[in-house]
Amino acid sequence: MAISANILVIDDEEVIRNACTQVLTRDSHRVKGAESGERGLAMMKQEVFNIVILDLVMPGLSGMDLLQRIREDFPDVLVIVITGYATVESAVEAMKGGAYDYIPKPFTPDALRMVVRRAVDKRELILKNIFLQEELKTKIGKVEIIGKSKPIQEVLKLVRKVAPTDSTVLITGESGTGKELIARTIHQISPRHQKPFVTVDCGALVETLFESELFGHVKGSFTGAVATKYGRFEIANGGSILFDEIGNIGPNIQANLLRAIEEKEITRVGSTRVIKVDVRIMAATNKDLRKEVKEGNFREDLLYRLQVVPINLPPLREWKEDIPLLAEYFVEKFSKKMKKPKKAISPRVMDKLCQYSWPGNVRELENTIERAIVLSDRETIELDDLFPSSPYSIHQKEPDPVGLKTLSEMEKEHIIRTLHILQGNKSKTAERLGIDRKTLRAKMKKYGID
Ligand SMILES: Nc1ncnc2c1ncn2[C@@H]1O[C@H](COP(=O)(O)OP(=O)(O)OP(=O)(O)O)[C@@H](O)[C@H]1O
Ligand SMILES: [Mg+2]
Repeated sequence: MAISANILVIDDEEVIRNACTQVLTRDSHRVKGAESGERGLAMMKQEVFNIVILDLVMPGLSGMDLLQRIREDFPDVLVIVITGYATVESAVEAMKGGAYDYIPKPFTPDALRMVVRRAVDKRELILKNIFLQEELKTKIGKVEIIGKSKPIQEVLKLVRKVAPTDSTVLITGESGTGKELIARTIHQISPRHQKPFVTVDCGALVETLFESELFGHVKGSFTGAVATKYGRFEIANGGSILFDEIGNIGPNIQANLLRAIEEKEITRVGSTRVIKVDVRIMAATNKDLRKEVKEGNFREDLLYRLQVVPINLPPLREWKEDIPLLAEYFVEKFSKKMKKPKKAISPRVMDKLCQYSWPGNVRELENTIERAIVLSDRETIELDDLFPSSPYSIHQKEPDPVGLKTLSEMEKEHIIRTLHILQGNKSKTAERLGIDRKTLRAKMKKYGID
């Protein structure tokens, strides 16, 4: 599908304006005309144009002056100049002055089309680059949701239902339950999947910068705003946006966000121009927003806007039957990533994994397996790979606040570590520990060391 743009044709000759409008409208662009530079500038303040086609020779404000004004006030607009008397000099001059391209008069419809298409592609590329940089930052990978258990299958059913729509989705669940993963998945199986998926980490931004981050700003709108900046909404245009940790935003932003969601339009900080955006909104939180509403921290109207379709992710302890599947999946993932041969998980380790309550949910399980793959240099993952520094601490509810350990805990740890360093060689380990093999065997049995 061809991408369309908002185009403004500034030319004192009505025939040219009409001809451009006719040709470009057929290519599904939205085209408006202005008969003078002054009028053109006024229109640009009201409305957002992506491309301006500008006649260099006009009465009143000259084309070159106008070009300069546009470059200063609307630096993200691509300007194509019409060089009236096909002099090479004026074209060169205009390009030096910051025009994106030029088209000599008289021109054919096809020539016009081509120049505009190039500009549209260029714009697309600029936005895409910004988006790609964003994506690199947030590490993108293939999304895959693991889980055969009923709670996860219920979630996936909902995901498949909601993905093809434009409905706003509120994803709730404890930390590490996969909220971002679900949002990404919804985007990827939605009709918007070829457009950007942009996340906004609401917990990480101070309120003053938040607006400019979301809505963009124009050059000079505040100290430090040295260049015009695209907001996340504009970058996400056509795609989806995820407000992560939405429960963390302050009252001012809540009001602005509500307006943006309701009106589907934004204005950049320091500008009065209204920009239409077409973005699918998703939000995630581990807070109980209803409680936040009751306590006066979160706007009720915003909550209703967001939770058109609520998706609640169960904590891992409620779908323990999938732990073996998840564990195998992560072993494979990290073995591949670290270019190690795929390891097996010893049955004892698997038992422990299944017994543990995983307060950090899937993320904690993932990190545990990753660490084990890094540490393990045997074919099978054993208990000491899993919990190297503080063996079996997985069973302690609260870690000891001062880090004090009993002598036998220390002895156990020391044996495990020495065994580990000497690659499980018991004779060498005994020798290093200054005990005989029989004593070592007895101690290993006592502490349940494999
Ligand atoms: N069902 C699942 N299958 C495979 N991987 C999963 C699953 N659920 C979560 N993960 C993985 O667990 C990690 C944590 O998931 P994610 O970041 O989506 O959680 P979150 O709920 O957004 O966490 P937080 O509240 O801390 O931001 C990610 O690496 C994600 O890929
Ligand atoms: Mg998250």
